[in-house]
Amino acid sequence: MAPSTLLALCALASTVLCQSGSNILSFVDPLIGTVNGGHVFPGATLPFGMAKAVADVDGEDQGGFASDGSNITGFSHMHDSGTGGSPSLGNFPLFPQAGCPDDELDNCVFPKSARAVPRINGTAIAHPGYFSIELATGIKAEMTVTSHTALYRFTFPETPTEANATLSPLILADLSDLPQSRINGSIAVDNSTGRISGSGTFSPSFGIGSYTLHFCADFQGAAIRDTGVFMNNRAGSEPKNLSVVQDGGNISPEILPAGAWTRFHAPHGADNAILARVGVSFISVAQACGNAEREIPAFDFDAVHTAARQAWTDTLSAIKVKPGQGVDASTQTIFWSGVYRASISPQDYTGENPLWDSTEPYYDSYYCIWDSFRSIHSLITILDPGSQIRMIRSLIDIYRHEGWLPDCRMSLCKGFTQGGSNADIVLADAYLKIGALAAAGGVDWQTAYEAVVKDAEVEPENWGVQGRGGLTSWKALHYVPTDDYDPHGVGLFTRSISRTVEYAYDDFCIAELAHGLGNAADADKYFGRAEYWRNMFNPAQTSTINGTSTNFTGFLQPRFLNGTFGHQDPIFCSPLLNFTSCYLNPDGLETYEGSAWLYTFFVPQDQASLIAALGGPQAFVTRLDYLHESGLLYIGDEQAFLPVYQYHYAGRPAKSAVRAHSYIPAQFNTTRVGIPGNDDSGAMGSFVALTMMGVFPNPGQDVYLITPPFFEEWSITNEITGKTATVRNLNFDASYRDIYVQKATLDREPYARNWLTHAFFLEGGVLELTLGANESAWGTRGEDLPPSLSTSHLGTGHYQL
Ligand SMILES: *[C@@H]1O[C@H](CO)[C@@H](O)[C@H](O)[C@H]1NC(C)=O
Ligand SMILES: *[C@@H]1O[C@H](CO)[C@@H](O)[C@H](O)[C@H]1NC(C)=O
Ligand SMILES: *[C@@H]1O[C@H](CO)[C@@H](O)[C@H](O)[C@H]1NC(C)=O
Ligand SMILES: *[C@@H]1O[C@H](CO)[C@@H](O)[C@H](O)[C@H]1NC(C)=O
Ligand SMILES: *[C@@H]1O[C@H](CO)[C@@H](O)[C@H](O)[C@H]1NC(C)=O
Ligand SMILES: *[C@@H]1O[C@H](CO)[C@@H](O)[C@H](O)[C@H]1NC(C)=O
Ligand SMILES: *[C@@H]1O[C@H](CO)[C@@H](O)[C@H](O)[C@H]1NC(C)=O
Ligand SMILES: *[C@@H]1O[C@H](CO)[C@@H](O)[C@H](O)[C@H]1NC(C)=O
Ligand SMILES: *[C@@H]1O[C@H](CO)[C@@H](O)[C@H](O)[C@H]1NC(C)=O
Ligand SMILES: *[C@@H]1O[C@H](CO)[C@@H](O)[C@H](O)[C@H]1NC(C)=O
Ligand SMILES: *[C@@H]1O[C@H](CO)[C@@H](O)[C@H](O)[C@H]1NC(C)=O
Ligand SMILES: *[C@@H]1O[C@H](CO)[C@@H](O)[C@H](O)[C@H]1NC(C)=O
Repeated sequence: MAPSTLLALCALASTVLCQSGSNILSFVDPLIGTVNGGHVFPGATLPFGMAKAVADVDGEDQGGFASDGSNITGFSHMHDSGTGGSPSLGNFPLFPQAGCPDDELDNCVFPKSARAVPRINGTAIAHPGYFSIELATGIKAEMTVTSHTALYRFTFPETPTEANATLSPLILADLSDLPQSRINGSIAVDNSTGRISGSGTFSPSFGIGSYTLHFCADFQGAAIRDTGVFMNNRAGSEPKNLSVVQDGGNISPEILPAGAWTRFHAPHGADNAILARVGVSFISVAQACGNAEREIPAFDFDAVHTAARQAWTDTLSAIKVKPGQGVDASTQTIFWSGVYRASISPQDYTGENPLWDSTEPYYDSYYCIWDSFRSIHSLITILDPGSQIRMIRSLIDIYRHEGWLPDCRMSLCKGFTQGGSNADIVLADAYLKIGALAAAGGVDWQTAYEAVVKDAEVEPENWGVQGRGGLTSWKALHYVPTDDYDPHGVGLFTRSISRTVEYAYDDFCIAELAHGLGNAADADKYFGRAEYWRNMFNPAQTSTINGTSTNFTGFLQPRFLNGTFGHQDPIFCSPLLNFTSCYLNPDGLETYEGSAWLYTFFVPQDQASLIAALGGPQAFVTRLDYLHESGLLYIGDEQAFLPVYQYHYAGRPAKSAVRAHSYIPAQFNTTRVGIPGNDDSGAMGSFVALTMMGVFPNPGQDVYLITPPFFEEWSITNEITGKTATVRNLNFDASYRDIYVQKATLDREPYARNWLTHAFFLEGGVLELTLGANESAWGTRGEDLPPSLSTSHLGTGHYQL
């Protein structure tokens, strides 16, 4: 069947056999990953939107809401999704009360801790563009959004649950955020309209500096009764505004409660509802009000909700899936929810950046590129190249005005660098895959190149938030010594192993860019530095678990300035030993969020050399099996993604497919817990999506490793070229026993390589995989394997743009 036939079929189809259009949305469950560390934001947002509305809880609140039974403290308008550490944003929450006990203003509750109210269990409903929940106070809160504006519909009970109260709703707006990081703020209420607006300066959740945000709340549905402000636990109808300055430096854990309120008469409508429209802006209160008035002029909840649904339908329709006979709904829900979560961040703040004047797009919440380079940006490049191009322009513009590419960035602030300068990888990935389209779309590759070379050559004063530390040693010794002498900048002198192997890969990506841009001398230099991973490899290092040898020899190890190897138990910081001892803390060890066992596999640029160093393909496969089966690997940290597929490089693509199925659905499923660890702005979601599509990238290279999709067939029509790429399983088996490629054809010609390039997505084509019950010879020969630095003829091969 030709792709066009599939599309036509999809258009007519029974929803069971073919997923496209609005029926996709029923397979998105935003509540997946809202408990046990997933930290997913399950509220209402547009794709990459700035306004993100949800109920905030006093439990696990990194993403605002959690399915953990904790109490609800308010409803706020901006969030990040899936991040670790401290919660992010959640500024200026609204909190509704149906009436004050005894109708006394002072009997309403104002501070966050006092007002927190239980949810009614089981009432949280989340769909793309919509979230609702019912409170123990009998109030139902629904929310939807446009780009910069949240729209809430609070439905009040006829009889308030508050003692001796009559229905006279009070809605307060609180000058606070989720991490209670307020530095200062001001708020005012307009007594004639009930409008509450204000500004606050807050701290970013994983970075330095501060940011100022503004909001503007208007109400509809009930006559204004009175208005005022509150401070601590007291409220009054005079004055109509207040300002709070920094609270003696005492910003944590409690800041002084402060805010404003508007009280209403009973709502006009029979539904007892009041609508609250909240615009946000980083520029000014006037712009926050303007955003709200322009985007939601009529307070039409259903129209805004319908438009949000349509935006999601359009975004998710980039891929059409024919699930195949016997594929159950939960398998489809895992997939579509993954694609959905990978389309929440980075957030489009274009027109909302107060830091510099520019006509370039501005995206924020690159949170963090250490996580997102491994699958998020690759997925966006396939499904929504227009957005990826705008994100690349934004990264380059950040470099222009901040002097450095970010490794992590949120809320207009510089975030903490976890390893290398991994924006280099994102830029190279886009250059190799969509470089020409991106140039036509406004990407200035020369400036991009200048930016990545600065990462490689210039050490910043504070390499904790940009660039790389230890560059002098890196250049002189060709590794980052564990006892580095680095008087050139400030940062945590930890992670010498992981930073070394990341710098090597970052330099490989810079070399690819240099090569593509015709700078042969630089390409040679950086391809040379790409081999420095070897300098941390101690061929004599063994590994034991509880005194029993694992029988593998040769691991990355710390190395001193004098060239001698130090020692870090290769299993340290794996789930088997001190799993949580390798974070961004001064006493962190030499690997970041993972063990030397795991990092030993991190040579994405030269798997052929790594395989040789580890004793050849068979020994490599045995070791990779051990990594997956011994408990040493945690799939919930992003460095674990590529090892699922590294069998491809040893000529065993069948084992990659088996591995993929071992993690889905066992570790990625439709339960509320259904994500292993933080979603990290959609990193886990994009891993699931790419894995189920069977085209996992080696990000930073024009390489997709082929495994059979979890569906019978999918198609993607490139939004720029208009061409359609289709992958089809023949002999598809929904029980996933027959997951072994026996043979493949690309556009009806035999296709023996176990990998594809992005040309497949740009130019379209049909890849047909014939499946069987046993591993075959397909994709196993040397010439079938993906490229490695040491085996590729750069300049004549596929690295050319
Ligand atoms: C609601 O669920 C939480 C746990 O999620 C539980 O602790 C609480 O007792 C439940 N409340 C009711 C009223 O069932
Ligand atoms: C939630 O609020 C209820 C009622 O105010 C209170 O009894 C309960 O302890 C709170 N739960 C938590 C987890 O704070
Ligand atoms: C309700 O008001 C009545 C009369 O003013 C009073 O006696 C009673 O205590 C109040 N109930 C509560 C729960 O406050
Ligand atoms: C609020 O705090 C920020 C950051 O410290 C500062 O730049 C700003 O001037 C302060 N604003 C007021 C009104 O105090
Ligand atoms: C505020 O508005 C209310 C309702 O319109 C009105 O009764 C009251 O007099 C106003 N207060 C001031 C200070 O204008
Ligand atoms: C309240 O608003 C008035 C009028 O705009 C202004 O003069 C005053 O400084 C404000 N007060 C505070 C505490 O912000
Ligand atoms: C190592 O031994 C300890 C103590 O006997 C045991 O708790 C632990 O599970 C063992 N670890 C492994 C990976 O076998
Ligand atoms: C290591 O090799 C020895 C000798 O062949 C064997 O007895 C032992 O089971 C092996 N250990 C592991 C962890 O595979
Ligand atoms: C190299 O330096 C380390 C750390 O200072 C030291 O322990 C080791 O003995 C030195 N090796 C040699 C050969 O000097
Ligand atoms: C390893 O973990 C144990 C407790 O889990 C802790 O006491 C010890 O300090 C940790 N070691 C290091 C080097 O972090
Ligand atoms: C779902 O995924 C979670 C997180 O990885 C895992 O802990 C749980 O066991 C899985 N549940 C099922 C039923 O597979
Ligand atoms: C497939 O492999 C199994 C053992 O794994 C074997 O029993 C079976 O005969 C094989 N089937 C074919 C068609 O080779």
